[in-house]
Amino acid sequence: MMGLKTLLLLSLLGVLEVRLAASSHGHSMPGSPYNISKIDSSLQKVVLAAAYSFNNQSNDAYLFKPSAIHRAQRQIVKGVRYIVDLEISRTVCRKRDNNNNNNLSNCDFQPEGHLHQTFKCHLEVWVIPWNKKSTIQVFVCKP
Ligand SMILES: *[C@@H]1O[C@H](CO)[C@@H](O)[C@H](O)[C@H]1NC(C)=O
Ligand SMILES: *[C@@H]1O[C@H](CO)[C@@H](O)[C@H](O)[C@H]1NC(C)=O
Ligand SMILES: *[C@@H]1O[C@H](CO)[C@@H](O)[C@H](O)[C@H]1NC(C)=O
Repeated sequence: MMGLKTLLLLSLLGVLEVRLAASSHGHSMPGSPYNISKIDSSLQKVVLAAAYSFNNQSNDAYLFKPSAIHRAQRQIVKGVRYIVDLEISRTVCRKRDNNNNNNLSNCDFQPEGHLHQTFKCHLEVWVIPWNKKSTIQVFVCKP
């Protein structure tokens, strides 16, 4: 549960950062968010990076990975923002086994049972391609 608190805190800090950034460049008009394909390859990268970040922050014994994407939007604003509603679920891979540096591609989801768990998450990531930089602005997950 500590992990979730940390995530919430991180996302609050992220939001604050964005507000500050927005007020210091108040003259630019960002585009509106629009729906993109849920299998968009850039979106997949963003969602996977968020799962790695979740795993890094959580105290769970197992790795989680994305299990569904319910909303996927892109917004052009000094780079590209991704706004995503997704679910992440517990896999059978234990963290301490250090599966190929926690490579999620070989990790199956937990079968139905007491270890099966899914979080519903809201994610906003800002990718600045020319800086090769990406910032998780909001990442909140709840059971
Ligand atoms: C994992 O978290 C630690 C501290 O919270 C941080 O220093 C490290 O860079 C993170 N690693 C990744 C891969 O995000
Ligand atoms: C965008 O996607 C959401 C969720 O998939 C859907 O509910 C909504 O109607 C879509 N909006 C447009 C303009 O297609
Ligand atoms: C993870 O494993 C898959 C399949 O074994 C491999 O194709 C992929 O390159 C690996 N990814 C990373 C980041 O190591």
